Order: sequence, then structure tokens, then C-alpha cells
Amino acid sequence: MKKILVINGPNLNLLGLREPALYGAQNFTALEAFVLSCAAELSLDVELFQSNHEGAIVDKIQAAYGVFDGILINPAAYTHTSVAILDALKAVALPTVEVHLTDISAREEFRRFSFVSLYAQKRICGKGFCGYKEGLEYLAQLP
Ligand code: DQA
Repeated sequence: MKKILVINGPNLNLLGLREPALYGAQNFTALEAFVLSCAAELSLDVELFQSNHEGAIVDKIQAAYGVFDGILINPAAYTHTSVAILDALKAVALPTVEVHLTDISAREEFRRFSFVSLYAQKRICGKGFCGYKEGLEYLAQLP
């Protein structure tokens, strides 16, 4: 069974409370339950990780080397700022999908650039929870 690490970055733990007009009314527990149900359907072994700390995310990506077959990451605000997360992804060189609940290309100018996109093999934006499903489907079908 393929092992996939699903990483959610800062403030995603506040889903439901956080700008519901943008991010929806469902909370983070609902997102995690949705991801686990998609994983079961796709016969993937998923580990969930959320952190508000850049270094903790870097540590988790580094620890994924030799353990996981792929990474699905919503780096949240670190998308637009973190060379460290980009470098960690490049270092472990696992197949990686970048996912965003919202369409970052249609929001503020500062959200248009993504460091993670410089490495990720696929980016999915603006599809809400379904984007996580699409990302897992992509990782599941890789050889
Ligand atoms: C986000 C988009 C980011 O710009 C923002 O900082 C987030 C969430 C999204 O899922 O749409 O925290 O990654």
C-alpha cells in the first residue's frame, strides 16, 4: 500500500472559523475526515500532519525520506514565502502535489507566486476539499 504524507500549514486548523466566505464553513476535523475517507477509497495509507510552524513542516518533510511514497501539501501562507519548504521538498525528492482550497491565482497579487510550485509535479487550486481528493488520486496512479 502506498504511503502518502498529507501536510497542512498555518491557520488551516482554524477552518470553519477562518474567513468562511473564502474557506467554507466546514472545520479542519471535517477536512481530515474527508482526506482519510478518500485515502481508504484509493487504498492509500495516509498520515495527516498540520503545523503552524515552518521549521516543524521542514522537519516533517525531511523525515518523510525513505518512509513515504508521496506528499500532498497545502503550505498555506508559507506557499508564498518559504524557500526552506521548497528546499526540503527538493531534498527528499518525493512526488509532490500542492493543493489550495482557494484559487490563489485569483486573489491578492502576493498570493500569485508559489515557491512550492517550483518543485511540485502538480498544483490544484480553488476546488475546496475536493482538491485534496484530486491530489490523492494523482499520487495513487503514479507508477
Ligand atoms: C491557502 C491559500 C494561501 O494563500 C493562504 O495563505 C492559506 C490557505 C488555500 O488553501 O487556499 O492559508 O493555501
